[in-house]
Amino acid sequence: MSHRVYVQTFGCQMNEYDTELVRSLLKERGFVFTPFPEQADVVLMNTCAIRENAHNRVYGHLAEWKAMKQSRDLVIGVLGCMAQNLKKELMESHPVIDVLAGPDSYRQLPDLLTKALERRERSMAVDLSEYETYEAILPERMPGVNAWIAIMRGCDNFCSFCVVPYTRGRERSRPAQGILEEAHALAAQGYKQITLLGQNVNSYQSENVTFARLLSDVADIPGIERVRFTSPHPKDFPPALIEVVAHHPNVCRQIHLPLQAGSDRILDLMGRSYTRAGYEALAAEIRRQGDIALSTDIIAGFCTETHEEFLETYELVREIEFQSAYIFKYSERKNTIAYRKFPDDVSEAVKSERVTRLVELQRTISAGKNRQLIGTEVDVLVEGNAKKSSHQWMGHTESNVTVVWDKDVTPLALGDRITIKVEDASASTLFGTPVPSLASVV
Ligand code: SAH
Ligand code: SF4
Ligand code: F3S
Repeated sequence: MSHRVYVQTFGCQMNEYDTELVRSLLKERGFVFTPFPEQADVVLMNTCAIRENAHNRVYGHLAEWKAMKQSRDLVIGVLGCMAQNLKKELMESHPVIDVLAGPDSYRQLPDLLTKALERRERSMAVDLSEYETYEAILPERMPGVNAWIAIMRGCDNFCSFCVVPYTRGRERSRPAQGILEEAHALAAQGYKQITLLGQNVNSYQSENVTFARLLSDVADIPGIERVRFTSPHPKDFPPALIEVVAHHPNVCRQIHLPLQAGSDRILDLMGRSYTRAGYEALAAEIRRQGDIALSTDIIAGFCTETHEEFLETYELVREIEFQSAYIFKYSERKNTIAYRKFPDDVSEAVKSERVTRLVELQRTISAGKNRQLIGTEVDVLVEGNAKKSSHQWMGHTESNVTVVWDKDVTPLALGDRITIKVEDASASTLFGTPVPSLASVV
């Protein structure tokens, strides 16, 4: 009988994509998937290591699964960035784990799981590769409106706070040809939106194809209505990319541009290779070329950050007025440059206070921007049920703001493009009603 697998994913979209690769690799070898852990022979966790709370969440789940394993046969596998980061240490501290596999080792996973199922053998595969791009493996995607494509893997930037270069290894780009073929196939399957993924998409390079060219080629594919990407790095943002985002009708006019900090000294310690003025100039240039929404990531309380330096970040966030921002407390990661060289000397209380202040500021900015849309009409892709009610639809504007509206007599299907008249707005969501299209009036 086929073995049943349950898989749970943490972390970023790259991990979501990797889970789809894992599903595909396991299905090929006869495994089947179940959404219920209690019915599974194998339970897998695709983990994240970016901050300590990502690790803690995994420890919590492992404790639950350990209890489950006491009453029946169960193989437990830990995949992804935390597996790669801790390797043997995790295997030794948690004897309940049978299989450990890092992001470049998923081709070995079916064999490792088989050994665990048949012979109770524990094993670990954590070699990082300079070449693995899982080319020619078609991820097993969930039906929906958006499909992710990882166009590159790894990262060579070594920002001093960040664990990703250690968990995902050296940067490598997937050949453009394969990406375009996959995007064509996705369009034929009915996916309307494609999100191109990489830790630093600006450095994508496949023979003579740059990221700007790849983006525009994907957006040209018939049937693909929206293309997004994440993330570019502010340090080497090519003008050609701004042009494609500003002018290609199918590329969403939205850029996630991680800032991290607004103080030059902190940016330098972080190894980000740009200055506050450089970031400001880039943001201004992006806005000069088009009505492009900017979102960002910020770390509060990085090593040695003073109150004045925090205020520089605060002022820059106020000045730039991002559409949205993810704000994180600095979390020290073992073996990173910051761990080796700088003291993690901002207290938890001060980190929390800085995060709270930034979150409040950003909430006011987002709410103000969203309120300005009341009375206007926005173009929305129907993506699914609203989180809070199955009587409402949910979608996003081109600028990636969530829109919610009542399901009513107007029949709609996932993937439809509609116009919504905005009637109300919060910091995170627009509320409105569909504007009858010409077709439905006639
Ligand atoms: N490659 C992406 C970032 C991926 S990690 C980029 O450079 O744009 C996503 C975000 O997590 C980062 O932008 C950063 O803000 C945050 N992050 C990374 N390491 C962190 C750490 N040690 N503590 C807190 N936040 C961190
Ligand atoms: Fe981490 Fe910097 Fe690479 Fe982003 S660019 S993944 S923050 S090292
Ligand atoms: Fe993503 Fe977390 Fe790894 S953010 S790249 S899953 S460390």
